[in-house]
Amino acid sequence: MAAPNIDTIVSLAKRRGFVFPSSEVYGGLGSAWDYGPLGVELCNNVKQSWWRWIVYDRDDIEGIDSSIILNRLVWKYSGHEATFNDWLIDCRKCKARFRADKISDNKCPSCGASDWTEARPFNTMLQTKLGAVADDDPTALAYLRPETAQGIFINFLNVQTTMRRKLPFGIAQVGKSFRNEVTPGNFILRTREFEQMEMEYFVSPTAEHSKLVDYWVEQYVEWFGSLGISRENLFLYEVPEDDLAHYSRRTVDIMYRYFPEREKPWEELMGIAWRTDFDLSTHSKNKVDAEGKRINPDSTEDLSYFDEPTKQRFYPHVIEPAVGVNRTVLAVLMDAYSEKTNDKGETRVILKLSPQLAPIKAAILPLAKNKPEIVGMAKAIKRSLQPVLRAVYDDTGGIGKLYARQDEIGTPFCVTVDHQSLEDEAVTVRDRDTWEQERIKVADLAEHLQKRLKPYPVTQPEVV
Ligand code: GAP
Repeated sequence: MAAPNIDTIVSLAKRRGFVFPSSEVYGGLGSAWDYGPLGVELCNNVKQSWWRWIVYDRDDIEGIDSSIILNRLVWKYSGHEATFNDWLIDCRKCKARFRADKISDNKCPSCGASDWTEARPFNTMLQTKLGAVADDDPTALAYLRPETAQGIFINFLNVQTTMRRKLPFGIAQVGKSFRNEVTPGNFILRTREFEQMEMEYFVSPTAEHSKLVDYWVEQYVEWFGSLGISRENLFLYEVPEDDLAHYSRRTVDIMYRYFPEREKPWEELMGIAWRTDFDLSTHSKNKVDAEGKRINPDSTEDLSYFDEPTKQRFYPHVIEPAVGVNRTVLAVLMDAYSEKTNDKGETRVILKLSPQLAPIKAAILPLAKNKPEIVGMAKAIKRSLQPVLRAVYDDTGGIGKLYARQDEIGTPFCVTVDHQSLEDEAVTVRDRDTWEQERIKVADLAEHLQKRLKPYPVTQPEVV
């Protein structure tokens, strides 16, 4: 089973230290969330899994980390200043404000009226100002990036030349992005500050771009599977031509069933877009329009590529898989949620997180906390495991309660130290999902746990 709704996850996340509403001591800040001790581990594990999979396990992708604040001209020529808009409408009756594309039946979701103002554009890039004279100086305006992608495009030549790359190859980046969303909401699904994992895959203008979109869709469906997200909770959506972003010739969204209780359960988890050569050419000094006029008189670089075998120079096309960290974390939590009834008839929550994502891999629990030898042995085991896997020591309750707590936060293994351990140098390892127990020698424990924690393998065929 998966979580019946997002609210179940909101309450678990707050109760158990995954995610807290931000700025709560001042009444909160709409749609801002802080990641707690377990949430930060889960996010880090998702990002590490992605980085290993996309940068280390392949031979055709490099990683970078570009600035969040870029030269404003980047956003002028990327088209974001002119077109990164949401269309706003106001209800004349109750004055509530909405995104026009989110109103499907022409009725105001707040009061039910159908009396709207004209739709008007609202640029969703978050503004800031740079420098000490910022308030008086209009040139001090800058933006917090709304996507990590532009930092990749403007570094295309730096990466290609320093790493001596030939097409096809990709550049990956993970980091924060910001959008002044008109209607944020649904927990961490839509926020003004969020994190993206984006990869720009540069290919020849004559490559089979549509096939490459399909290739990356398949890869990501597999990767989500390795994170424990079931295929039946994913839906592939071919974005209609009218709804494509200004740079895209084809986009497939991978949607997740975030709203299983609703008639329309799907919301975007990620998008895979064929961005053509739009971005590299728009940032290039040599690109000219149909009349031979430079399209970018401000650029000092030409981001074209010289293809040695064909002796041709061109602007590579790009296939871009763009995924949100926060939306992945929410999908992972929803899919991992399950309930199980014990022999006393009590219902327990078990978070069946993939072992690679679990914030804590093993909890070391002493059966008797008033027995110094048992406590000492348990703490020593925790310390010996820590260099190879994330382990915690916990003696703050009876063993039943301790097991239940670890199940609820997705810890794959509980290791219990008891009286017998002092004699046979062995401990009981309890499995989170089956509740089965096994006796393991302390000397073999680290290897035993590491073997069982291995991530599911993901095969990645070469790009065709
Ligand atoms: N570079 C392309 C790009 O940014 P996007 O579809 O606008 O494409 C990619 O964003 C992904 O980033 C989305 O599929 C989603 O996972 C995440 N994302 C976008 N806006 C978000 C928001 N306001 N809150 C949380 N995640 C967001």
